[in-house]
Amino acid sequence: MKLLVINGPNLNLLGIREPEIYGNKTLADLERELREYCAGKDIELEFFQSNHEGAIVDRIQEAMGRCDGIIINPAAYTHTSIAIPDAIRASGIPAVEVHLSDIGSRESYRRISYTTDACVAVISGRHFEGYKEAVDIFRKKLYNELLANTK
Ligand code: DQA
Repeated sequence: MKLLVINGPNLNLLGIREPEIYGNKTLADLERELREYCAGKDIELEFFQSNHEGAIVDRIQEAMGRCDGIIINPAAYTHTSIAIPDAIRASGIPAVEVHLSDIGSRESYRRISYTTDACVAVISGRHFEGYKEAVDIFRKKLYNELLANTK
């Protein structure tokens, strides 16, 4: 199974950026932890981070026919972008939305997510664990599909 992990704007500054909210660990730490988590599970990971909405749209389109799932933290674009959820829908690739912080208990403008409707699940406020839980959602989905095909 091939999963694409997309991180949106300012997440390249993890570790430096508002550590009281997002923690001290870096994006490289996240990628390393996820690779370790997926080791031996027959999961191939691709990572992409961009500060640009169009680049994220391009990357989702580029994954069509190649990736089995997308784990996406659209960061601030969560609350503003229609193009990103449109790209997810258009791609037909199942996606799980992840947020490090609990967007439901922060500023009111963070409570709106345009991405959620295009995703099969949302995990918010679980920091790095949330990305691992997203991997587990795809593993379970694959397991259920395999089970259904053997019946
Ligand atoms: C975030 C939450 C967003 O509101 C914010 O703009 C981010 C990060 C999170 O992971 O908690 O950049 O998506």
